[in-house]
Amino acid sequence: MPELKPLAGSDDRGKPIVVIGSINMDLVCRAERIPKPGETILGRDLVMVPGGKGANQAVAVARLGGNVQMIGRVGDDDLGTRLLSGLTSHHVQTDYVTITEGVASGCAVILVDAKGENSIVVSPGANARLTPADIDAAEELIASAACVVLQLEIPLATVKHVIALCKRVNVSTILDPAPVPSEELDRQFFGVSVLTPNQSEAELLVGQPRDVRLPAKKIIDPKQIGTELVARGAECVVLKLGRKGAMIVDREGRIEHIKAFKPKVIDTTAAGDAFTGALAIARSEGMEMPSAVRFANAAGALACETFGAQPSLPTRKAVEKLLKEIGR
Ligand code: RIB
Repeated sequence: MPELKPLAGSDDRGKPIVVIGSINMDLVCRAERIPKPGETILGRDLVMVPGGKGANQAVAVARLGGNVQMIGRVGDDDLGTRLLSGLTSHHVQTDYVTITEGVASGCAVILVDAKGENSIVVSPGANARLTPADIDAAEELIASAACVVLQLEIPLATVKHVIALCKRVNVSTILDPAPVPSEELDRQFFGVSVLTPNQSEAELLVGQPRDVRLPAKKIIDPKQIGTELVARGAECVVLKLGRKGAMIVDREGRIEHIKAFKPKVIDTTAAGDAFTGALAIARSEGMEMPSAVRFANAAGALACETFGAQPSLPTRKAVEKLLKEIGR
């Protein structure tokens, strides 16, 4: 099977990984179950935990030993100050995080049930103010990156601008297409080096209507969705399949399933972010795709074992220990 080239050259360890995306404060309540529409239930104490898909992925890279720069926006409120100092304490470089005057920081309201599954509503706040001009101001940094990591909690026009810029300066891109917007994404969004949707995001991306929940047996075959997403322009699709591991489908014809680890699930929040951050660092270190996905699976599994988004992101030592224990 031909091996997809590492992200940008053989080993980009010295270059920064640039994460462009959301920075949120998560307001989390744990309850026995997620309530039905119109229902009220009692939960545990509300807790505030730093989160945001972009910030989580940046912290994931930093905890795994990477050199990471974050591009994003926070509000000029108390939460913004806390979010910025949280990023710095994890050694994420924040020179390109702008404090936005008169705007609230992004927040997410998260419910976590007894099985560790969550439901999330994001109030974008300052994240919605990240513009193509912010990206142009960081062009030199972006051009020097090992790779650029993106998600969809910032304006779509900005994401599109980043993808076009990265193509121009020949920098690899990893897009975690979450959350999938209600409007159809045009082709430019698929023109990335690696696309990392989960199963339901992938189904939405290939046009499965949002209000139709497929019975388990009818779930679209991950190989089929991966192939369709590659046909739309992605060089490689890494489908995050949760308890079922991950599936690699690429332009060279590789279709390979990578087994999952079996974590003791406390909270799945940010498991996908741990996966994407780990994939970015593994690829920037020149790991081949199957090994990089194994590494990312281990990071994602470990993130399920601790409550909260950023506090759950594993260290390099923990990921390597798990890989060694399981013998992968
Ligand atoms: O992926 C988990 C994250 O999604 C949370 O931290 C929340 O802020 C939302 O962005």
